[in-house]
Amino acid sequence: MALKIASFFFILAISSLFRASFPAFLVPVTKDSAAEKYTLPIYLRTPPRQVYLLLDLGATFTLIDCSKNYASSSYHSIPCGSPLCSSLGPHSCSVCSGLAGPGCSNNSCALHFTDSGARKSTVMGEALMDSLSLPVTNGRNPGPFGTIHNFIFSCTKGPFHKAHVKGTSGSAGFGRSKLSVPAQLSKSFKEKFLFTLCLSGSPSAPGVVFFGSPGPYYFLPEIDLSKHLIYTPLLSPQLSNGYFIGLTSIKVNEKVIWLTNEGLVPTKISTMTPYTTLRSAIFKAFAEAFVNESAAADLKVREPVKPFSICYNADDIADTPVGPAVPTVDLVMQNDDAVWRIFGSNSMVRIFRGGVDAWCLGFLDGGDHPKAPPIVIGGHQIEDNLWQFDVESERVGFSGNVLVHGTMCANFNFTKNEGLLYI
Ligand SMILES: *[C@@H]1O[C@H](CO)[C@@H](O)[C@H](O)[C@H]1NC(C)=O
Ligand SMILES: *[C@@H]1O[C@H](CO)[C@@H](O)[C@H](O)[C@H]1NC(C)=O
Ligand SMILES: *[C@@H]1O[C@H](CO)[C@@H](O)[C@H](O)[C@H]1NC(C)=O
Repeated sequence: MALKIASFFFILAISSLFRASFPAFLVPVTKDSAAEKYTLPIYLRTPPRQVYLLLDLGATFTLIDCSKNYASSSYHSIPCGSPLCSSLGPHSCSVCSGLAGPGCSNNSCALHFTDSGARKSTVMGEALMDSLSLPVTNGRNPGPFGTIHNFIFSCTKGPFHKAHVKGTSGSAGFGRSKLSVPAQLSKSFKEKFLFTLCLSGSPSAPGVVFFGSPGPYYFLPEIDLSKHLIYTPLLSPQLSNGYFIGLTSIKVNEKVIWLTNEGLVPTKISTMTPYTTLRSAIFKAFAEAFVNESAAADLKVREPVKPFSICYNADDIADTPVGPAVPTVDLVMQNDDAVWRIFGSNSMVRIFRGGVDAWCLGFLDGGDHPKAPPIVIGGHQIEDNLWQFDVESERVGFSGNVLVHGTMCANFNFTKNEGLLYI
């Protein structure tokens, strides 16, 4: 611990001297298979304590349940009515009848959020500022920890729905807002608001998020995935705080099955949705074409396994380096050079239970809600793909499945390199 604290101060001292050689942060991201969500550890408070949070690409700010022993020598609340409070967006002034302490004071700035549990409700959490620490990185290894001192988050009294993933105490907001984790890190170090996600589908081997660095991002064996990015525009933030790219068509085995004449159709990228959902009409055309194309390759559908509607016996499908051999799915963005090809490892889900061994098409019918985005890309489809969210340049870079490039998201080398800052 002494060493850890010493290294915090070391980073602080050196960061002001060598700003240019202090490029980026990282955090490992692990899949919780039961919840089908992704979690990450951050260090918060003084002395620093590790907390696990849910990764939420669509959330504007970070929520932490601080009802259990939030002890820190460095936290501050934000007075209601202060310019900082006004700058945080929708807020109110806290009233707390409990024991005074972190998250419980009168007349502090409080942030609202909607808890999307069984009963939708608006919950209020006091805004706190405290120290947040993450490892710095050169894109190859993690190094010592770097700290930002005024990280703002919402401190709730008591658990809330989103936090109901085992071992987590809240959710990390990665949204397109100035209070999100990547935005606050970038601002503190005067870096671009940019972060890069490489999610691993394995519960034992984590993937990684890089903050503030356009690359390189090395994965074993020595593969820089930043060289494989294709870019597409990040659509306007008016839609929501999440990240939307634009699609023009979908192809199955290179045959167009859905085409729009409405420009770029907003397509949300979500880490809270386990499987891609398509509006009913799109889903029906897609599913029918997928079944037709697989029938042409002598694949017969079997009884479906919920929640999926199109499944095949695993024995009938050959393996390839990019997953089961099934028709390819292409999501075509602004033009024919910006195509995300989805192979079996991302389009199909292996179901192995109760005597069933099947591969199921991992896309779901999202119904017909006119207000919901027509297409929401879910976690299973973005795993083992590198995604760079470059908010400042309003673009998203994607690599396609990194198995094609000879590596995987779990191949980041997490061995700590203490000497990293001397490079
Ligand atoms: C907040 O104000 C109420 C009413 O004045 C008071 O009863 C309560 O103890 C105060 N809470 C704190 C944490 O000071
Ligand atoms: C699927 O095949 C059937 C029968 O051959 C055909 O009528 C239908 O148009 C095909 N659908 C698609 C989406 O290709
Ligand atoms: C991982 O990184 C460490 C520290 O830089 C290095 O010594 C080690 O050789 C790397 N592992 C592999 C498999 O390259």
